[in-house]
Amino acid sequence: MSDVITTTDTGVMTLRLNRPNKKNALTKAMYTALTNGLTLAAADDDIRAVIICAEGADFCAGNDIFDFAQDLALFQDETADHDDMPVFRFLKAITFFEKPLIAAVQGQAVGVGVTLLLHCDLVVAADDARLSLPFLKLGLVPEAGSTLLLPARIGHQRAFAWMALGEVIGAETAKDLGIVNAVVARDALDDVARQMSEKLIRLSPSSLRHTKAFMRDPEALWQVIRQEGAVFRKQLISPQAQAAFAAFLAR
Ligand code: COA
Repeated sequence: MSDVITTTDTGVMTLRLNRPNKKNALTKAMYTALTNGLTLAAADDDIRAVIICAEGADFCAGNDIFDFAQDLALFQDETADHDDMPVFRFLKAITFFEKPLIAAVQGQAVGVGVTLLLHCDLVVAADDARLSLPFLKLGLVPEAGSTLLLPARIGHQRAFAWMALGEVIGAETAKDLGIVNAVVARDALDDVARQMSEKLIRLSPSSLRHTKAFMRDPEALWQVIRQEGAVFRKQLISPQAQAAFAAFLAR
C-alpha cells in the first residue's frame, strides 16, 4: 500500500497520508505522491476540490528525519537544483494550486504538518489535534512560507511566540487563532471535511479560482519559500540541528 492514498469521488480528490506507524512523517516519495496528486487535480476540470488528510492517530510528524540525514549532502550542494527536490516541488505545487484545498487534522501535527495547513483554504481539526512548530528548537528556521503566512494570519507577536517558544497548540486554540475553521470529534473528522468539500463543489469553479487568486500572491509566497529554504538548508548543518537529529536517530 502506498504511503499516500489518492482517491477521487464526485469531483473531490482525497490525498490521505498513509504511514501511521511513523506518524505520517513525510518522505521524499510522499512529497512526490502529493505533488503528483495536486498536479493531476489542477489539470482535471472534473476535480473541483482536494482534501488532505491522514490515516491513524496523528496527522503528520513533519519531514522524515531519516530523509534529512540521508540527503544532507544534496541539501548542502550549492550547485544542485533545489527547486527540483521532492519537498520543494511539493511546496511549489501547493503554493500555485488554484482550487480549494481542505485539510483534516488529528492528533500530532508537527513542522511541515502544520505549515502546509497555512496553504489550505479550510482546515477542520479533531478535538485531539496538537500543533507544534519545533523549527527553532531544532536549530532550523520555519519553512513553507510560514514566516510570511503565519504572522499575516495571527499577528507577529503570536506567530513569533509560537515559533520561538515552541508551544504545542491545541485544536480550540488553533480555532481561536484563526488557523482552523472548525473543531469536531475525531470520528466526525472525515465526514465534516467531506461536507465542506461538497459545499465548495456546488460553487462556480471560476468564482472560486478568482476569489482564491485575489486572496493570495503565490509568486511572492514562492520567493519567500525559496529564501527560507536556502537558510533552512544551511541550518541543517548547525551544531544544534545535528545534535537534535543525532539524538532522534539514536533513540
Ligand atoms: N521522521 C522520521 N520518523 C519519525 C518522525 C519523523 N519526523 N516522527 C516520528 N517518527 C517515527 C519514530 O521514529 C517512531 O518510529 P519507530 O516506532 O520505528 O521507532 C514512530 O514514528 C513513532 O514516533 P515516537 O517518537 O515513538 O512517538 P511519540 O508519540 O513518542 O512522539 C513526536 C511523537 C511527534 C513528538 C515525535 O515522534 C517527534 O518529535 N518526532 C519528530 C518531529 C520533528 O522534529 N519533525 C521534523 C520537524 S522539521
